[in-house]
Amino acid sequence: MIKFTVIGGNASQDLAKRLAKKLKAAYIRTELKTFPDGENKITFSSKPKKSKIIVVQSIYPPVDSNLIQCLSIISKAKQFSSNVIAVIPYMGYARQDKEFLLGEVVTIQVIAKLFKAIGATKIIVIDIHSPTGLKYFKISAKNVSAVSELVKYFKKLKLRKPLVVSPDSGGKNRAKEFARLLKTNYITLKKQRNRKTGKVRIVSSNLKEVIGKDLILVDDMINTGGSIIKATEFLKKQKCQRVFVACTHALLVGNAERKIKKSGVSQIVSTNTIPGNTSIVDVSNIVANTLM
Ligand code: R5P
Repeated sequence: MIKFTVIGGNASQDLAKRLAKKLKAAYIRTELKTFPDGENKITFSSKPKKSKIIVVQSIYPPVDSNLIQCLSIISKAKQFSSNVIAVIPYMGYARQDKEFLLGEVVTIQVIAKLFKAIGATKIIVIDIHSPTGLKYFKISAKNVSAVSELVKYFKKLKLRKPLVVSPDSGGKNRAKEFARLLKTNYITLKKQRNRKTGKVRIVSSNLKEVIGKDLILVDDMINTGGSIIKATEFLKKQKCQRVFVACTHALLVGNAERKIKKSGVSQIVSTNTIPGNTSIVDVSNIVANTLM
């Protein structure tokens, strides 16, 4: 008898297939048809057999569509199993985990309620923006870090004593862990973001320790690229050598990738939580390990 069935949502088919292979699980594809008015129809390619079901679907753009697809797949999966685990490699809306400005909706809390209501028994996410977001899930919720997998990639590049840099204080622990695994040092920049316009600026003072060094900027996600671009421009002024970027989720909206390269970044390395040009690090192993 099989233990697991993995169902891949449209946003995460490749990762879901890899996960199924690692778990020796049955794999069910979903087909998505989007009607001219934007409504989605989802069809399971086959009927799940008796087993624990794992639904894999990232919530990247189109965020609301991928979210509703995810909830719909979970709801259908519940007809076949009482145990449906949601693997959300990239959890959208996780940055809205507080009422930063008066009147804002804490959207991640709304999403957490939806996952419970639809019957997900457990949720697994990868490098959620902050642990605060996970607290709203009133079902078993686990965050898995992709840092170890990103570090494995950077070890292969054999950079000479690179310095790990967090673009802001919120990413300090991530950079610290990255540096520990890479057996090198880290520093943290000071970043300010205007909560109304979203614009960022680096307010660190001069940094002697970056002079002549290859740097690895480590962040959980790249959205517009603003944080990475500002950090790179600042670091280049400080006369560093090459700047590499390591992040878990590369959303790279609009022409962010081109703008980041133009600012002087040598390479962007991200994971397959979001498929794309830079997603060269596979996270299926670390997800499989938490499920086995
Ligand atoms: C913010 O705190 C996050 O860790 C990222 O630095 C941020 O979301 C990246 O967004 P953007 O690429 O638009 O600057």
